[in-house]
Amino acid sequence: MSKFDLVIRNAHVVTAADAMRCDIGVSGGRVAALAHDLPKGRNEIDAAGRYVLPGGVDGHCHLEQPMPAPMKMADDFASGTRSAACGGTTTVIPFAAQQKGHSLRAAVEDYHRRAEGKALIDYAFHLIVTDPTATVLNEELPLLLREGYTSFKIYMTYDELKLDDGQILDVLALAREHGAMAMVHAENSECIAWLTRRLEAAGRTAPRFHADARPMLVEREATHRAIALSELVDVPILIVHVSGREAVEQIRWAHGHGLRIYAETCPQYLFLTADALGLDGYQGAKCVCSPQPRDLANQQVIWDALADGLFTVFSSDHAPFGYDDPRGKKPGGKEVPFQYIPNGIPGLETRLPLLFSEGVGKGRITLNRFVELTATNPAKLYGLYPRKGTIAIGADADMVIWEAAREVTISNGMLHHAVDYTPYEGMRITGWPAVTLSRGEVVWDASEPQGRSGRGRFLKCDRPDLARPAPQR
Ligand code: URP
Ligand code: ZN
Ligand code: ZN
Repeated sequence: MSKFDLVIRNAHVVTAADAMRCDIGVSGGRVAALAHDLPKGRNEIDAAGRYVLPGGVDGHCHLEQPMPAPMKMADDFASGTRSAACGGTTTVIPFAAQQKGHSLRAAVEDYHRRAEGKALIDYAFHLIVTDPTATVLNEELPLLLREGYTSFKIYMTYDELKLDDGQILDVLALAREHGAMAMVHAENSECIAWLTRRLEAAGRTAPRFHADARPMLVEREATHRAIALSELVDVPILIVHVSGREAVEQIRWAHGHGLRIYAETCPQYLFLTADALGLDGYQGAKCVCSPQPRDLANQQVIWDALADGLFTVFSSDHAPFGYDDPRGKKPGGKEVPFQYIPNGIPGLETRLPLLFSEGVGKGRITLNRFVELTATNPAKLYGLYPRKGTIAIGADADMVIWEAAREVTISNGMLHHAVDYTPYEGMRITGWPAVTLSRGEVVWDASEPQGRSGRGRFLKCDRPDLARPAPQR
């Protein structure tokens, strides 16, 4: 009887810190040995000539998140996690969102029902706090944090989600007391509303005017304010989906002053520009997300900040709404003014291949940094490390064998989400996962998703493993 359920031979293993050539022995879903010439396993994969990296941890994605009617996200836990696995991601962390006037606990229970029996890969939950009542702050949140929901998102914009500064301070104080991770969507709501009213009055309602309602100062101001609020409470925060230069400058300033500000960016800020919002007719609705993609100069700022260590994590912010879909970008079947287009774009499956190709392949970031941004740091930030986010003895055997030279022209037809478009249609990239393993089981084999929906397990998160943000190189 073999000691190992699986042996991956001749692997070129790369983690956030190391690179080594060895065999990987998997037993009981965990990495059991990293050594040369391991004895034969019950199953064997020859990885000769290929990188074996930790499975991706997507710390920001939206799956079947309840929306106001008629909107409905296209991906549930089955299609979303299937798509993630086919793109090399082995853990997702979507959001259990409190609705104003309702309990946070109810949102978590509802979200578990949505996930139950559907996920192909493992998942944890962030919370979204929209109504920090005394009950939520004093009773629900402290208990939930102890039960393994150790991170939450707060919004500075969107009427149905946003908190005012006093509420943000209350929630940050709680994060400090309990060691939770607060993720902040930083955009100035009043500026957006004011500009939107003026654009509407002038008849400027096409998708491209979404960008005019959100000049960069809207993100800069809110980022600055979020940093100040975090400084006042003396608690680290993560600024999510950072889109361009002015927000980056604020974060650099914060780091220069020794403040623990973590930062996330997403593929849309590297691979799209605001021009995508101006595509013919209503097509620009496909790329309406907030903040919106900016321009080529801002893309370069984001690349530089990925390379120099400013960013801690790289997430998809997958927010799946169909284009030709009355529950998606055409609510009720109509082309609507930009402010009624549901925000978000799909990206779970393309997150890793895009960064692998254009980041690692083009020499902009190292492979170690790729792993750090896409797997290790999100696992640390959300209390899943070292079970997730690395290849080490005792860690879950979540791994991706990369076919680094495979040339791919991205098309929606090859993806496995339930969205009817990808913003990256026609893009030519190099590199795609050949095999994705979740706890030692193949969930993607370069042609088809494998494994049973529902095999994915819920993960309770520990407190974030918070070091100071890495010094900028
Ligand atoms: O438009 C975006 N960024 N996604 C939808 C929700 C959010 O703000 O994360
Ligand atoms: Zn957001
Ligand atoms: Zn989001």
